[in-house]
Amino acid sequence: MTASPTPAGARSSASLEPGWAEEVRALARRRDAVLLAHNYQLPEIQDVADHTGDSLALSRIAAESDASTIVFCGVHFMAETAKILSPDKTVLIPDAAAGCSLADSITVDQLRAWKAEHPGAVVVSYVNTTAAVKAETDVCCTSSNAVEVVASIPEEKEVLFLPDQFLGAHVRRVLQRENMHVWAGECHVHAGINGATLTAQAEANPDAELFVHPECGCATSALYLAGTGAVPADRIKILSTGGMLDAARTSNAKSVLVATEVGMLHQLRRAAPDIDFRAVNDRASCRYMKMITPEKLLRALREGRDEVRVDPELAARGRAAVQRMIEIGQPGGGE
Ligand code: 13P
Ligand code: SF4
Repeated sequence: MTASPTPAGARSSASLEPGWAEEVRALARRRDAVLLAHNYQLPEIQDVADHTGDSLALSRIAAESDASTIVFCGVHFMAETAKILSPDKTVLIPDAAAGCSLADSITVDQLRAWKAEHPGAVVVSYVNTTAAVKAETDVCCTSSNAVEVVASIPEEKEVLFLPDQFLGAHVRRVLQRENMHVWAGECHVHAGINGATLTAQAEANPDAELFVHPECGCATSALYLAGTGAVPADRIKILSTGGMLDAARTSNAKSVLVATEVGMLHQLRRAAPDIDFRAVNDRASCRYMKMITPEKLLRALREGRDEVRVDPELAARGRAAVQRMIEIGQPGGGE
């Protein structure tokens, strides 16, 4: 395989003012700020951050950090989650308009109506939800620990899983759990990575491993390919973005097809420079993630904006669900 083209939405550092990264570091020190970047951020944002990771790892770092300010280079629900966990810290996001189509796929009123149809059910919300939805949730999860979170709920209890239908289908498949209802939401980026493309690429690259994010529309196709023997099951890995990095570090593969947002390729290539990583869909770029630019990061640090505020009453109601999320799947975390 040849190298993937520059990911859509990526920009070259050549157009930036020289010294911008040093200025970011200096301003962060002055503000006593820790800089967190999600794996889907622009490469130059990932490189300047103190920590880059998946949504679970970043939530844990935000909760444990001693810094008085958290600058979250990611999307709004991630910064909101950090604020829920650390209400006394200042949380900044370089652009508060960086939303998430998946978080928008369920409102708190829709969740209340769904709960009313299933009294007594345990509500499991993916972290990609608003603070208001988290306040109506029993336990949150991310793609790295969704299976463990649902497995921790007594078998006789009904489960309402929201909002991602593909992640929900993945969890239901792994746990063979019938009493689990899944909301029909989706992320527009991951839903656009379809099974036909994945199948064609897997057939054209018979030696490549497949790393598939469970939010993808093709996750079912990947498991189907494994089930039919068309692709050996050990070549297909359904992984969170953090799980992809762990797998890359220990893989012996020469090439890997990656089914997730294209920002992920940057960390994968750094983690395993000898592996040829190629995006299954090189147009799978999240416009919200790419709203965080070096210019806006500098503005955030210079002007202390955009500050993320969560209504204290909502935050208090959502905190236990988020805390449970960061404990589950953690060494010593029980499940
Ligand atoms: P991870 O939990 O794998 O970081 O994915 C979250 C996500 O899709 C953010 O958009
Ligand atoms: Fe939301 Fe999808 Fe973007 Fe992730 S990639 S932030 S789930 S819209």
